[in-house]
Amino acid sequence: GAPVEVDISSLQPGEMKTVEWRGKPVWILRRTPEMIASLKKTDGQVADPQSKRNPDEFTPEYCRNEARAIKPEYLVAIGICTHLGCSPSTKFVPGPQASLPDDWAGGFLCPCHGSTFDLAGRVFKNKPAPDNLPVPRHMYLSDTKLIIG
Ligand code: FES
Repeated sequence: GAPVEVDISSLQPGEMKTVEWRGKPVWILRRTPEMIASLKKTDGQVADPQSKRNPDEFTPEYCRNEARAIKPEYLVAIGICTHLGCSPSTKFVPGPQASLPDDWAGGFLCPCHGSTFDLAGRVFKNKPAPDNLPVPRHMYLSDTKLIIG
């Protein structure tokens, strides 16, 4: 599939947009400073904080960091659960919920078997999903434009 160019100039902090690339949904989340700060907190709660598992398949080299990003402000991730391929909720699911820890800072919840991911797409420990959400190859063409693929 051809690379996809995405204009992110209208994306506000806290907003997410979804584009299609190779038939897959790619999420682009513009993280607020609070969301970025929450990754420090979830560092100890996620299974693979530095995205070392299957890195070639799931995380390009330039995104093997806590934010899984080139720029901490933007998460670019494929919205397909690494367990059996369901689509996790694109809501950040804020606030306490039955299956979520009390100090949940927001993230993504897969409805199929309850895997939860933080705001960098990192899977929480002891969940069915074996890996973090995949980050596709991408780069910035400018401050407001990125290319996926
Ligand atoms: Fe997502 Fe099973 S497919 S938890």
